[in-house]
Amino acid sequence: MWDEERPAATTEEAGKEGGTMQATIQASRTREPEIHELLARRWSPRAFSARPVEPAQLVRLFQAARWAPSSYNAQPWAFILATREDAEGYNRVLSTLADANRQWAQRAPVLILAVAKLEFDHVASPNRHAFYDLGQAVANLTVDATSLDLYIHQMGGFDAHLARELFAIPAGFEPVAVLALGYLEGPAEPPAARTRKPLADFVFSGSWARPAPLALETETQTRPR
Ligand SMILES: Cc1cc2nc3c(=O)[nH]c(=O)nc-3n(C[C@H](O)[C@H](O)[C@H](O)COP(=O)(O)O)c2cc1C
Repeated sequence: MWDEERPAATTEEAGKEGGTMQATIQASRTREPEIHELLARRWSPRAFSARPVEPAQLVRLFQAARWAPSSYNAQPWAFILATREDAEGYNRVLSTLADANRQWAQRAPVLILAVAKLEFDHVASPNRHAFYDLGQAVANLTVDATSLDLYIHQMGGFDAHLARELFAIPAGFEPVAVLALGYLEGPAEPPAARTRKPLADFVFSGSWARPAPLALETETQTRPR
């Protein structure tokens, strides 16, 4: 875990440990800059416990989504909640998933269909930030879930047309993702090698694709588990 990581090992120390690839990976992980513990702890599991998620926790998670920022405060999001207790709704969401996702997602006690509202209410014009804002609401929800030891695995691999049909989602709204939500099954651990692009690949200054100098000073390939 993040806060159980030992102090940063130097490359030299890694060499003393036998110079194994494992030691080198460990060293590069521990060189990571710190981020908030909730962000560091979040990951996308596939092994969910059958333990139901308490209704009060679900309300809290949607409150977290509700308080996300959005362009013009339009709050262009909607969620279709399907708990395992609601077998009909749950199976409907499940049926929209790509086979590979359904295999593991069917163990999650809660599935949530996240929907974006594509037009503003106050003017009849497209809201080009609708997806952005929905993503922020889901990010809020996801981080708050982590604080409750709940985990979310988002999925784009689902049939949006089928979801629209099964839930009578009107024109002007777009089903964007399905979220599997639940507690972890046993001592589940994130995959050992979780990679990320280095900052220099996406933090620019001055001109497109010119890495910001501060981005070049850090090495951000992986992050701690
Ligand atoms: C919009 C979106 C769609 C995704 N779709 C899928 C999916 O269909 N199946 C899947 O197994 N994971 C899916 N993921 C999970 C990503 O693969 C995962 O977040 C990424 O590999 C980083 O891993 P981490 O979340 O554990 O840090 C999706 C994530 C997002 C945000």
